[in-house]
Amino acid sequence: MITTNVNTMTVATTGGTPLAGLGNPAPAAAGIHELIRERWSPRAFSGVPVSRERLNVLLEAARWAPSSMNEQPWRFLLANRRDDPEGHARIASTLVPFNAAWASRAPVLTIVAAKTAFTHNGAANHSAYHDVGQAVALFTLQATAFGLAIHQMGGFDRDRARLLLDIPDGYEPVVALALGYPGDAGELSLEMRARETAPRTRRPASEWVYGGRWSEPLPPTTESVQ
Ligand SMILES: Cc1cc2nc3c(=O)[nH]c(=O)nc-3n(C[C@H](O)[C@H](O)[C@H](O)COP(=O)(O)O)c2cc1C
Repeated sequence: MITTNVNTMTVATTGGTPLAGLGNPAPAAAGIHELIRERWSPRAFSGVPVSRERLNVLLEAARWAPSSMNEQPWRFLLANRRDDPEGHARIASTLVPFNAAWASRAPVLTIVAAKTAFTHNGAANHSAYHDVGQAVALFTLQATAFGLAIHQMGGFDRDRARLLLDIPDGYEPVVALALGYPGDAGELSLEMRARETAPRTRRPASEWVYGGRWSEPLPPTTESVQ
């Protein structure tokens, strides 16, 4: 076991744990990392609690995201139902009804906010949302490594979150996260179950990859992708 300090938190990691998988891998082409293939956004969560130790490791992963000027504009408001049932209910109450119906069952709820101006000069940080997204992506991949699922949600009331969670001026609530171990889709409503078991799809890269100009396709290559 390796123990390191994260500000005032203690993080413990055990190395070499095999990936449990989250039960709905992406039908992606060969070559992508297993963590990326296994990550998905379920709505069924089990009631199994998430340890503080694991949450600390997730936060440590987010901490090491790159950011413009190393500003690290992300702020995580995190409520583990086991330790803070009121905080959990508070975040749940900001979710739109469609999300609250399933996400309230997740043992951990999080709102991630962005600091929208640079600390060193107060200028607008146009990379703030991008950087928050990167921190959330690393947080999510680290969760996947632990067999934990995260469902990101834009469907929450930002004004209510700002008010209830004491988010100060200069910070924008960006995304809500439901976090926990995958649960039984059979416990979801019929509508949610249908979404849960729908095939996972993506646009082909040809729809969003260009060459050096928008008007030019990426030239074909005879090299294989390594
Ligand atoms: C920023 C963001 C906001 C999202 N908002 C919602 C939401 O409010 N409700 C929901 O059910 N899913 C939400 N999702 C989940 C997406 O629908 C999901 O990521 C997408 O369909 C791809 O599925 P996958 O994550 O399982 O690969 C959101 C995802 C992101 C990244």
